[in-house]
Amino acid sequence: MKLAKSVERLKSSPTIAAGEEVRGLLAKGKDVVRFDIGEPDFDTPEHIKMAGIEAIQKGFTHYTSARGIPELRDALIDDQKKKGIGLSSSNTVFYPGSKIALYSVLALLLDPGDEIIMQDPVWPTYGSIVEYFGGVSVAINDWNDNNPRTTFSPHEFERRITSKTKAVLINSPCNPTGAIVPESKIEELAQICRSKQVPLILDRIYSALTYNGEDKVPDFDIEGGDIIIISGFSKEYAMTGWRLGYTIAPKKFTDILVQLQDNTTSCPSSFVQYAAVAALRGERDWQKKMNKEYQDRRDAMVSEINKIPGWKCASPQGAFYCFPFISNVGDSGSFSSKLLSECSVSSVAGKFFGMHGENHLRLSYTTSKERVLEGMKRITEFYETRWHRPQKSLQ
Ligand SMILES: Cc1ncc(COP(=O)(O)O)c(C=O)c1O
Repeated sequence: MKLAKSVERLKSSPTIAAGEEVRGLLAKGKDVVRFDIGEPDFDTPEHIKMAGIEAIQKGFTHYTSARGIPELRDALIDDQKKKGIGLSSSNTVFYPGSKIALYSVLALLLDPGDEIIMQDPVWPTYGSIVEYFGGVSVAINDWNDNNPRTTFSPHEFERRITSKTKAVLINSPCNPTGAIVPESKIEELAQICRSKQVPLILDRIYSALTYNGEDKVPDFDIEGGDIIIISGFSKEYAMTGWRLGYTIAPKKFTDILVQLQDNTTSCPSSFVQYAAVAALRGERDWQKKMNKEYQDRRDAMVSEINKIPGWKCASPQGAFYCFPFISNVGDSGSFSSKLLSECSVSSVAGKFFGMHGENHLRLSYTTSKERVLEGMKRITEFYETRWHRPQKSLQ
C-alpha cells in the first residue's frame, strides 16, 4: 500500500497517547492519580441524559441537516445572544465534536505553505492539523509564568500577518495555560484582522469554565465580519463522549462547511442534538456547582505546586489545567514519564504544547480535591527526595 505524502506529516496526539497509557495501567489495577486527562470527571447532568434517552425512544434516530435540527439552532442562537454574539440559523454547522469542526475550518482555508498564527503555549492539535494540510504554524508567545493574565499583544499578531497568513487562531480560556484573553484585546485583534482581511478563529470550548470573572468577547455580528467561532458541548456540559461541536461563521463560509460536512460525517447523532437542546435550555445551577468545585481544586493544586522549591504556578483563570514552571527537571517528557512510572501520577509534558511549553507540565484538576492533594503529595515527595536531591548532589 502506497500512502499519501501527507501521512508523513501526521502526528499522534500527545494528550490522547498519555490517556491511552494510563488506561492500560488502570486496567492492570495501578492506583494512578490522573492529572493527564482533558475532560470533566463530572457526569452529564440528568436532564440532558433524559432528553437523549427520550429522543431515542421517540424515534429521533435518523440523519439530520449538518446545520443542526431547527430546535438546536434556535437554542444556540438564544444562548449566544446572551453572550453578545448575534447570529442566525444560516451561520451554524454541527459536528461530532469540535475537533472535527476545527479540522473542517482549516481544511477550507489552507493550501500548502499557508500560515496560521496562534498563541504559544498552545494545544498541540492546532499545529498537527495545520501541518497535516501542509500549512505552517506561526507561534506567538503570550505566557509569563509569574502572571495569570496572558501577555497577549494584538500588535504582535499584526506584526506577524503576511500575505501567507490564512487565519489567526485564538483559544481563550487557553489549553494548557488556563489564561483568558481580555475582551478589549480580542476586540483590538478583531479590528486588526478585519483591516488585513484575515479571518479570526476563536476556539471557545472552555468559555463557560472561568473562575475570576467571565470570558467575554466583544459584541460580534457574525455576518458582518470574518469571525469564526468553534466550540462544543464536551467541557461546558460534561458531554465529551456524546461528541457534539459547532461552528458559527458567516453564511458564505458556513455554506461551504456544510458541503464538506455533507461529504464527510453528514451530521452529528440526531438524539445527541436533542440532548444538547436540553443542555442549552435547561437550568444552570449544576454548572455553578461544577465551576465552584473546579475552583477549589485549582486553588489546592496551585498552592501545593508553589510549595515545591523552584516551581511556579500562577493561578489559572479558566479551563481546568495548571501549567506550572518546573525547574531542574531536564526534559519534561522524561520527567512526566518518571512521575507515572515511579509514583503513579499522570501528566502531560510541557514540551508538547508549543515552543514555549518545555520546562512545564500540564496538570488537569479533573479529579476530586482529595485526589489532587494525593497526587501533589506524590509529586512533591518524588521531586524532593528521589529526583531533585540526587541532581543537586552532582553539582
Ligand atoms: C482547546 C481545545 N479545543 C477543542 C477541543 C476538542 O473538544 P471536542 O472535540 O471534545 O469538542 C479540545 C479538547 O481537549 C481543546 O482542548
